Amino acid sequence: IKSQRSNVREYLYKFLVVGDLGTGKTSIIKRYVHNIFSMHYKSTIGVDFALKVIQWSPEIVVRLQLWDIAGQERFGNMTRVYYKEALGAFVVYDVTRPQTFEGVRKWKADLDSKISLPEAWGGGNIPVVLLANKSDLIGEGHGQHANPTEMDTFCKENGFIKWFETSAKDNTNIDEAARHLVTTILGIE
Ligand code: GTP
Ligand code: MG
Repeated sequence: IKSQRSNVREYLYKFLVVGDLGTGKTSIIKRYVHNIFSMHYKSTIGVDFALKVIQWSPEIVVRLQLWDIAGQERFGNMTRVYYKEALGAFVVYDVTRPQTFEGVRKWKADLDSKISLPEAWGGGNIPVVLLANKSDLIGEGHGQHANPTEMDTFCKENGFIKWFETSAKDNTNIDEAARHLVTTILGIE
C-alpha cells in the first residue's frame, strides 16, 4: 500500500512473527519497537500487534505492522486469518532448544500453504527470514552457534531468504533482520 504526500512516499507493510512457544517472538518485537526487554515470560494469547515507523530515506517512510502470533496457534485454526495480506514473515526458533528448530519447517509450510504475495506482484511465497534467537545464551552451557554453511543450505532448501542469529536481550541483529526483509519487499514492489 502506498500513499503520496508531497514527495514523501509512504508504505504500509504487514509482517508476521511466528515460531514455537517461548522462542522470543514477543521479546524481539518489544526490543525492536520499544527498545525494552524483560526476562519475565508471559505467553501471548492469540495475536498481538505493534507498529514500527521507519524513516527509510528522506523520501520513503515505511510503516511496519507487526503481527505477533502466539506459538500455541500452530495447533489452532486461526493462522489463515492472521496471515491475510501479510507481505513478509520471520520464523523464530530458540538456539537453546533444538526441538524449536523442528517447528521451523512446520511454520514455514503453514505460511507457504496459506499466504502468497499479491497477484499484481506475480504471486509466489512471501519472503521469510529465519531467526536463531537467544544467541546471548550460546556458550553458557546450552546452545551453540549455527553452522553458517548448514544454515545457508537449510535456507536455500526451505525457501528462507536469509537467516540471522539474534538476541532480544542484547539487541543483536534485530534491526538488520528487519532491514533485510523491508529491502526485499521494496525491491519486489
Ligand atoms: P509465545 O508468546 O508463548 O509464543 O512466546 P514468545 O515466542 O513470544 O516468547 P517471549 O518473547 O515471551 O519469550 C519467552 C522467554 O524467553 C521470556 O522469558 C524471555 O525473557 C526469554 N527471551 C526471549 N528472547 C530472549 C533472548 O534473546 N535471550 C534470552 N536470554 N532470553 C530471551
Ligand atoms: Mg509471545
